[in-house]
Amino acid sequence: MKEEILRLKKERDAIILAHNYQIPEVQEIADFLGDSLDLSRKAMEVKERVIVFCGVRFMAETAKILSPEKTVLLPSLNAVCPMADMVTGEDLRKIKERFPEDPIVCYVNTNAETKAACDICCTSANAEKVVNSLSQKEIIFAPDINLGDWVSKHVNKRVILWPGYCYVHRKFTREEVLEAREKHPDAEILVHPECNPEVVELADYVLSTNGMVKRVRESERDEFVIGTECGLIERLKREFPGKKFYSLGEPKICDGMKSITLESVYEALRDMKHKIELPPEIIKDARESIERMVEIG
Ligand code: 13P
Ligand code: SF4
Repeated sequence: MKEEILRLKKERDAIILAHNYQIPEVQEIADFLGDSLDLSRKAMEVKERVIVFCGVRFMAETAKILSPEKTVLLPSLNAVCPMADMVTGEDLRKIKERFPEDPIVCYVNTNAETKAACDICCTSANAEKVVNSLSQKEIIFAPDINLGDWVSKHVNKRVILWPGYCYVHRKFTREEVLEAREKHPDAEILVHPECNPEVVELADYVLSTNGMVKRVRESERDEFVIGTECGLIERLKREFPGKKFYSLGEPKICDGMKSITLESVYEALRDMKHKIELPPEIIKDARESIERMVEIG
């Protein structure tokens, strides 16, 4: 299967971009593996004609928005992020009517038409920086309430939160952190900002998935407890064979991310499916929101 994928990739002039939550086999065939921010940056500079995006739909849409002249393929139609459907463009337009002066910051975990309706996007890696870059003292943050809450505690602004959430990260509990501390007293505990506030509060570091990879590389510790989707642990084990990694509690699985398999990547390249198509006016407006974010860092 791997050989076939490589052959087809050449034939189609394609590149495979994959998120850190992909299954190990998909991570291994990827040309580029990263978090949402890195994948967006990468999508802007791709030379190949075709991008096979191994991640969830909103990530593939972001790639299409940033490289509209490319063909972007999403190998599985089940590769969706439920959080992205928790706020719509229409919701944001209504908020704008109520709070006309407040800029709306949208987590990239949103659909293209929501991105088109917001003022600026952010990811978990740059949310604080993006919010701080705005001159207003009050901002609207959607859709992830936990990331918004965490940002609000690190900026000198009033942050109005939208009640969206990630069903995967919401499963981590305070008890799991306390238990992990007892079981692995020498380990650093790294969690994603999509986790609930009581989990984030007890962690040693709150980081995006790439932020976690960087922290492991720089840390002098040998043991880490990881509070994010279990795919990242596979990457860490592969890249740092001398260090030990434990899941925070039972491994947590994102079904959308896990719906992509080697077979579906192969079929995507063979049949050139499933193409991401977006209306040009949505691409134009959403691109402005994403580019503003990328400029900030
Ligand atoms: P990262 O940008 O940190 O990789 O997170 C994306 C995501 O969907 C987390 O659930
Ligand atoms: Fe969406 Fe959560 Fe899956 Fe990330 S882990 S893609 S936020 S459902």
